[in-house]
Amino acid sequence: MRDWLRDLFRDRPIWINALMIFSSYMAFIYMPWDIFWKPVAEDKEVWFGIMFSGWWAKLTAIPHWFVYAAAVHGFRRHRSWICTWGALYTAQISLGMLIWNIGYFGFSLTGWFVGIVGAVPFALLSLALADARDHFTDARKPMRARYGEWAVVTGASAGLGVEFARALAREGMSCVLAARREDRLTDLAEELEKRHRVETRVVRVDLSTIEGPEALAAACEGLEVGVLVNNAGFGYSGRFDKQDTSRLRDLVMLNCVAPTVLTSKILPGMKERERGAIIMTGSVAGRQPLPLHTVYAATKSFDQVFGESLYVELRDAGVDVLVLEPGSTETEFQEVAGEIPHSGQSAAQVVELAMVSVGQQPTVISGWLNWARAMLPARIAPRSLIAYVAHGYMKDQTPPEMR
Ligand SMILES: NC(=O)c1ccc[n+]([C@@H]2O[C@H](COP(=O)([O-])OP(=O)(O)OC[C@H]3O[C@@H](n4cnc5c(N)ncnc54)[C@H](OP(=O)(O)O)[C@@H]3O)[C@@H](O)[C@H]2O)c1
Repeated sequence: MRDWLRDLFRDRPIWINALMIFSSYMAFIYMPWDIFWKPVAEDKEVWFGIMFSGWWAKLTAIPHWFVYAAAVHGFRRHRSWICTWGALYTAQISLGMLIWNIGYFGFSLTGWFVGIVGAVPFALLSLALADARDHFTDARKPMRARYGEWAVVTGASAGLGVEFARALAREGMSCVLAARREDRLTDLAEELEKRHRVETRVVRVDLSTIEGPEALAAACEGLEVGVLVNNAGFGYSGRFDKQDTSRLRDLVMLNCVAPTVLTSKILPGMKERERGAIIMTGSVAGRQPLPLHTVYAATKSFDQVFGESLYVELRDAGVDVLVLEPGSTETEFQEVAGEIPHSGQSAAQVVELAMVSVGQQPTVISGWLNWARAMLPARIAPRSLIAYVAHGYMKDQTPPEMR
């Protein structure tokens, strides 16, 4: 509990932590009470110094809740937009103080005096928030300065892996690019070297074999690996009893065994240097049972639990861990998995989220719709019911002969 609290409040000045606590109180206690329990006749809300009462107050309490809920998220996750968000909201309160007091006392000296005394603290807070960007993610040092010179990206020949390599090279990191399709890796290496003036190393490797992860780790020997992206993976759509045993074995080897072995080999160097980051590409599929993607979902649960546990173990070692959990993303994944094509987020968008989230939190789900789908049912419905609902949903993505 003490470590959890320390982690919750780390890397923020006291006044920002105080705002986060206040916003949490408003979002989780006061506003729900105000919206759902406070009698309509007694309800009052003030916006820009104008008081609303009755049903108008109930209605205008909803944007109030939204302001505080977004603030909790922004402060907690160190998002830089919270500076503008908080500055605008507190400026609104400051203006409201002035308008309200002048309205109450009239355009008298008292009205102006009380109004200004009420407005100044919020105006100062607004200015402080507008100037607080340095405390938030976007102002952090580039990855290379934070973690070290080299990044290892598995599955760098397609989809999310390509975008990870591009994003890391943009941050000045030299990249080890690993996958089976060497021609693609070589093209990407040329692109990164030309565009970002970083070094690259191409490693052609099959990570679903016993030797694969060991061979990749050996190819990284002597390099200061600051970031390891355990991203290579594939899905396998269909009913378990219709699936091929050796492909199932490859699935577990690639999605579970390879990240375990690579992390085990590369982590000691990071610990020695007291800095580094390990990113696991998990999936929202790992959040619940997923019939017709049974083994894939199980491998992604493994990745999630592995990453979340490691995050805590390494918290004081200077090594950050992040499990990125994408939903449907436009890559070669669906084709490889044998799914019926469906739309998704862009790979660049998903990777960008991982880049701002690493070092801030143990897991991140890309996209609010994916977040709602993955998180809300689990909190309100029995797991067995969720499995049946997921089965119905997955049928639409599975070719009839594999259902
Ligand atoms: N796209 C989605 O909808 C989605 C959603 C949630 C999670 N994910 C996860 O995101 C990760 C990346 O997938 P993606 O969407 O980018 O799919 P992708 O476009 O199919 O890319 C998969 C990458 O993994 C590599 N790979 C596959 N088998 C390999 C093996 N045996 N050895 C070494 N490398 C191998 C592939 O390279 P080679 O074929 O050249 O070896 C490729 O570079 C996976 O872990 C996946 O589970 C994807």
